[in-house]
Amino acid sequence: MILKLIKERRSIRIFAGEKIPAKDMNTIIEAGVWAPTGCNNQELRFVMLGRDDILAEALKFKPFFRGVSHFVLVLCDMSIPLSKQLYRKNSSAQMMSDIDAGLAIQNMVLQAKDIGIDSCIVNLSEKHYKKEKNLSVTQKISKELKKILRLHSINPNSFEYFLRNFLHIPKQYKIRAGVVFGYGKNFPNLEKVRHGANPIKRNSIENYIIKGEYAE
Ligand SMILES: Cc1cc2nc3c(=O)[nH]c(=O)nc-3n(C[C@H](O)[C@H](O)[C@H](O)COP(=O)(O)O)c2cc1C
Repeated sequence: MILKLIKERRSIRIFAGEKIPAKDMNTIIEAGVWAPTGCNNQELRFVMLGRDDILAEALKFKPFFRGVSHFVLVLCDMSIPLSKQLYRKNSSAQMMSDIDAGLAIQNMVLQAKDIGIDSCIVNLSEKHYKKEKNLSVTQKISKELKKILRLHSINPNSFEYFLRNFLHIPKQYKIRAGVVFGYGKNFPNLEKVRHGANPIKRNSIENYIIKGEYAE
């Protein structure tokens, strides 16, 4: 049953424009909240953007999304003592919060699909905001120095940087990921559509399982 739902979920980019009722959005968030978290830190927080004027601005670097009902941001609360310990820069457990965010997102998109709501995960790291070539020489040098000295906490050319400023998100919250939700209008043909290097239809599982002396 769950596998059927997993296979039916597709990344949808064009939605009908209809608004998702608040109770359904809450169900989706609840599914995210119940995802496992490393050390049971429960550090994830959620921002729900549903106003059309805010959506238009927040998604302006992703113009191919149309008719979105809600844009949900998944944030990590860095003010929790364990977050500071686990997710600080260069900590070996740093990736745990990314895993937590991924698990919460997958819970959310599957819960959404189960109640007839479509979704697409949104990469926030893209360089849309400010093209590198517009930086002055001093800015370029400062940027490279910060990179070398590992002083840059966030890419100033990123979508995430834009969102943080636009939404005035306090520094204690690190934006981990975003997901758009809505009622799908254009559904990709699973048999034909490719995205990036691959068809979106997955191959049979033998193609993904690595076998060897150590494995079955
Ligand atoms: C981490 C992550 C980031 C993604 N970012 C984007 C994005 O920015 N824009 C987009 O259209 N799709 C994005 N996707 C969706 C993928 O392109 C999609 O999952 C893939 O093409 C497979 O299609 P499916 O989700 O329908 O199976 C993202 C997916 C993941 C997991």
